[in-house]
Amino acid sequence: MSYDVVLLGASGFTGALTAEYLAKNAPADLKWAVAGRNHKKLEVFGKDVLHADVTDPKSLQALAESTKVVATTVGPYIQYGEPLVAACADAGTDYVDLTGEPEFVDRMYVRYHERAVQTGARIVHACGFDSIPYDLGVQYTVEQLPERVPIQVDGLLRVAGRPSGGTFHTALTAFSRPKQHLDAHRARRAAEPRPVGRTAKSVRGRIHRQEGFWAVPLPTIDPQVVAYSARLLDAYGPDFRYAHYAALNNLPMVAGGIGAAGFLVTAAQVPPVRNALLSRLKRGDGPTSEQRARSWFNVRFVGRGGGKQVITEVAGGDPGYDETAKMLGESALCLALDDLPKTAGQTTTAAAMGPALRERLSRAGMTFATLSTDDY
Ligand SMILES: NC(=O)c1ccc[n+]([C@@H]2O[C@H](COP(=O)([O-])OP(=O)(O)OC[C@H]3O[C@@H](n4cnc5c(N)ncnc54)[C@H](OP(=O)(O)O)[C@@H]3O)[C@@H](O)[C@H]2O)c1
Repeated sequence: MSYDVVLLGASGFTGALTAEYLAKNAPADLKWAVAGRNHKKLEVFGKDVLHADVTDPKSLQALAESTKVVATTVGPYIQYGEPLVAACADAGTDYVDLTGEPEFVDRMYVRYHERAVQTGARIVHACGFDSIPYDLGVQYTVEQLPERVPIQVDGLLRVAGRPSGGTFHTALTAFSRPKQHLDAHRARRAAEPRPVGRTAKSVRGRIHRQEGFWAVPLPTIDPQVVAYSARLLDAYGPDFRYAHYAALNNLPMVAGGIGAAGFLVTAAQVPPVRNALLSRLKRGDGPTSEQRARSWFNVRFVGRGGGKQVITEVAGGDPGYDETAKMLGESALCLALDDLPKTAGQTTTAAAMGPALRERLSRAGMTFATLSTDDY
């Protein structure tokens, strides 16, 4: 094994930011390389360049066998991601990605979880803004509530930022596959064992006022990831529930948000309209550094259990790209270098890395704070 970490996709928008993050922040003795199909675009990073094309399984096998951890930013993952998960599961190589696509995560569980358990590979999806702030934020909240009691956590997201071409393509691709999404969800439910003697799930909330905002249910991948962590970790108690919301200032914003989401989901079903929308944001493009500098996110968690209420907050800068590159880079470093609990198969950031990754991200400038603790 030649490398600690190999990054696939560094020629793309988020991959380049992740390579820059590693160049600035990885320990000097970390052995890391970049991989992809376009040698010329990858030389700029001054690291070893490995040939890897997701349409060439042999190149992915060689990639997986060359390193402890692979980090990939090659998406849409439902189109491009599976061969690399397969190669890492076979080779026993740890894997991190940036997917926010529930269908992809469910399909990978059904197809590769058992194989990865056998080889010892840790397959950790959603190591970016999807879903680290929520997964680690909920874990941080649960740690401050009494043990062995039913727990309910609500997450409320406020965010300002712009998407890259790659993110836009990935989101519209996901919206265009509602039936496949449902099929994958059902297949996973049938395949994944439930925890014994406990329940842990995400619940669909309703629009309501909370913490001074309008809380609107947000059907992203994040509640699915949080619920899987809760199924994997007994510390979430005998009956755990998580509800995920966007926190909006006023009713016109609620109506605008619901209208825009409805328009995108409807447009994604009609190929000519979907293609017209996709042509407006090219792959490889993304927000400028000035636009990213004005972007931010803040997630507030309200956790209740055993007569105690705790309010916590996870916050940072540009969610989609600067912070995402940091989160992906630190996840790869954490798996490669830190002393972690023994896990294998498809897992989550909270179950595989938990406090060690939280500590890394705090040192790197993201905040995890407790705002209040009360009895109720
Ligand atoms: N969840 C989150 O928080 C979050 C945040 C940011 C991004 N993302 C996701 O990350 C993904 C990347 O986004 P992006 O904006 O960085 O996209 P992008 O700029 O389009 O980059 C895509 C990368 O994939 C590579 N690629 C494409 N086909 C390939 C192949 N056959 N073999 C090897 N590499 C191939 C491209 O390489 P070439 O240069 O050779 O074309 C490029 O490096 C998207 O799925 C996006 O949704 C998620």
